Amino acid sequence: MNEMANSGTLQSHFKINPASNETGYKAYEAGSFKFKRDEYFVEIAWPNGTHRMAADDFMRALMRDVAWGFFYGTIAFDEVFGTTNHYGIVDMFAGTYHEVYKAAGRDHLEQFRAEELLKLMKDMVEDWTNEGYDPFAAPGEAGAGVPWGRKNGDNHDAVNRIRVTAERMVGLPGDAVIRTDDNGYPKNRMLADVAEDQPLVEAEPGFEKEVAAFNLYDYLSRSDVTWNPSVCSVVKESLFCPTSEEFSLPVEHGNDRCEWFVQLSDHIAWDVKDRDTGRPRAKLVMRAGDVACMPADIRHRGYSPKRSMLLVWENASPRVPEMIQKGEAPVVAVQF
Ligand code: PHB
Ligand code: FE
Repeated sequence: MNEMANSGTLQSHFKINPASNETGYKAYEAGSFKFKRDEYFVEIAWPNGTHRMAADDFMRALMRDVAWGFFYGTIAFDEVFGTTNHYGIVDMFAGTYHEVYKAAGRDHLEQFRAEELLKLMKDMVEDWTNEGYDPFAAPGEAGAGVPWGRKNGDNHDAVNRIRVTAERMVGLPGDAVIRTDDNGYPKNRMLADVAEDQPLVEAEPGFEKEVAAFNLYDYLSRSDVTWNPSVCSVVKESLFCPTSEEFSLPVEHGNDRCEWFVQLSDHIAWDVKDRDTGRPRAKLVMRAGDVACMPADIRHRGYSPKRSMLLVWENASPRVPEMIQKGEAPVVAVQF
């Protein structure tokens, strides 16, 4: 999924069509891809094919793709449709990584400037989210709302959340937004037993503004979103991105690099497939304390039956995808 697309030319056609009288939703065009939604479904059309997704699945995936700015590698909304990030340039594809679509010549891929495509997708997530529906929430949570029905209001606050980035060591003055004790977020119903009395910090007088520690479990137990890693520590190109998970990862992620998972609480089951064909490769269950390295040639989707805490560890080096493509870096972290 990493190789630059074959199409060559960058598409610059973007169109937002006025709301339909029938459903109240706007329709969208990016290159020759066309998108429309009705009360239950989203329909995607390209020159030689069409595809339909349930509106809830589509909205949860669209929300992640937008919020993460196309993330690392491929965000597959399902087995047919998705985007691949080349960092500045983005592929939009249908059937490209599906053996049968490919064999039948029904696959299609176009490239866009990332910021131009993101603008259109942001408009789509705004327009297609109704009042009371939160695409970041797990469907069983209070406040998740329903995605169905005709256009009915909006949920500006929910869809405009940005991934939280620590400005400096969490707990120190100026850490911006993520201090746990005073950020006003209540504990999640499933993580109500997480203790918050540790750590106790006793700084020498004069060092109170330089010595800090915070309770990551307490922080994560207060997350009001699911499957949305926040960048909590940055050491050179090593990013620790903890997140709280419930229900399923709304996308299949095909990474362009190795990616580590540290299961911090409860458990998540993972389906691992070949990145390019979608053929099943492995299933695993990660329980609290388990650590796994996802290879760079797979796609994965996680299933978290209860709210759980996961640490996603990324190597953000811009050189890694190319090194892997050239065979200079391995697709697995360890060879036994
Ligand atoms: C992943 O694709 O690796 C991923 C994305 C979001 C999460 C967890 C894992 O919340
Ligand atoms: Fe991933």
